[in-house]
Amino acid sequence: MSKLIGPFKEIVTLSSAPEKGALDDSALDIVQNAGVLVDDEKILKVGDFDTLKSETSDVEEIAGDQVLLPGLIDCHTHLVWGGTRARDYTLRMSGESYEKILEQGGGIFDSVEKTRAAPSTDLLTGLIRRANRHLMDGVTTIEVKSGYGLNVENELKILEVVKDAKADVISDLIPTCLAAHVCPKEFSDKREFLNYLENDLLPQLLVKGLTNRIDIFVEPSAFPMEMAKEYLSKAKNLGFELTIHADQFHIGGSQIAAELGARSADHLEASTDREVRILAKSETVAVALPGASIGLGMNFTPARKLLDAGASLAISTDWNPGSAPMGDLLVQAAILGIYEKLSSAEIFAGITFRAAKALGLNDRGRIANGMKADLAAFPVNDYREILYNQGKIKPSLVWKNGKEVNHV
Ligand code: NIG
Ligand code: FE
Repeated sequence: MSKLIGPFKEIVTLSSAPEKGALDDSALDIVQNAGVLVDDEKILKVGDFDTLKSETSDVEEIAGDQVLLPGLIDCHTHLVWGGTRARDYTLRMSGESYEKILEQGGGIFDSVEKTRAAPSTDLLTGLIRRANRHLMDGVTTIEVKSGYGLNVENELKILEVVKDAKADVISDLIPTCLAAHVCPKEFSDKREFLNYLENDLLPQLLVKGLTNRIDIFVEPSAFPMEMAKEYLSKAKNLGFELTIHADQFHIGGSQIAAELGARSADHLEASTDREVRILAKSETVAVALPGASIGLGMNFTPARKLLDAGASLAISTDWNPGSAPMGDLLVQAAILGIYEKLSSAEIFAGITFRAAKALGLNDRGRIANGMKADLAAFPVNDYREILYNQGKIKPSLVWKNGKEVNHV
């Protein structure tokens, strides 16, 4: 039997907001004094609470003023790692650059060493802890990248950890292989390393059902454009979906993303008007990672320009031990919004259905008929309070697949 959840002061449905381009707040499609009718794991109806009451006797009554949003979606994280990079962060605060630390063998290499040395059980515990914290912040779908293994054995170890965590984590985990994060110290030739991944790792990922998504860090200090394009083309031919760490310090990655029809191009802090136009013309979602801008003390992704040009913009944490250790999606989205002059609708779209688009998912991110009943209720009486409080007000209730989630 269907269940009615409510009443909510407001339900921010985002029910028919377009996938691309600028939005004004009419796109929030707010229903007042509303309820949501849920059938098993899916949303059946949204409407006036008192009217919907006549449709079922199973009512989950909500106390106090609450505003309901779709469950949040974090479409770019690196949640499996060993060790800490507090030393890097301290060096960066004193003026050392992220790229210089990497060049000197620290940075990502430091996390690779610690992650390789860590037993799977420790990595699993860390992933579950981070995913649970995210869930309490209203994040019900989380993309998780590998990328601190950099060889077949350890990349598989990390992706197996993500697979195993699905049994213990309530949120959906969407795995991505980022074995091409940087070239490991054992290889002097980047092309040779990519050949090794193509031959020895990618086919195994499909056979073992570990992921159907491939990522690469396109950057002179990681993998140059032509090499990356070749690797991604091969992955695409094998049947993988693509996503790219693009234009973080130098341009290039976003162009490849558009050319190859990647689901998303992420970072884009260095994108110029040319890259903005290329992305806007494509179906590739531009993913802003304000947590990395904050963690590195660098400029934000040109989110306003991307939206005005017609691109689809998602916002994600990039939660990782190096560039983005904070991992708070709502705080970061609110900060990006005030710097980049985004509307509430653009910010909420970026952490809900547009983030779902970046993951190739069209069954979530809106409160509308047929969508997954992933929901987050905030203890406020006006949706504007959520971003005004800069993400510090956390959900009082979260539902995953129609079921209320207790504190984890
Ligand atoms: O998205 N830029 C490349 N990769 C990650 C950071 C990884 C790290 O520093 O550990 C990012 O920012
Ligand atoms: Fe990243």
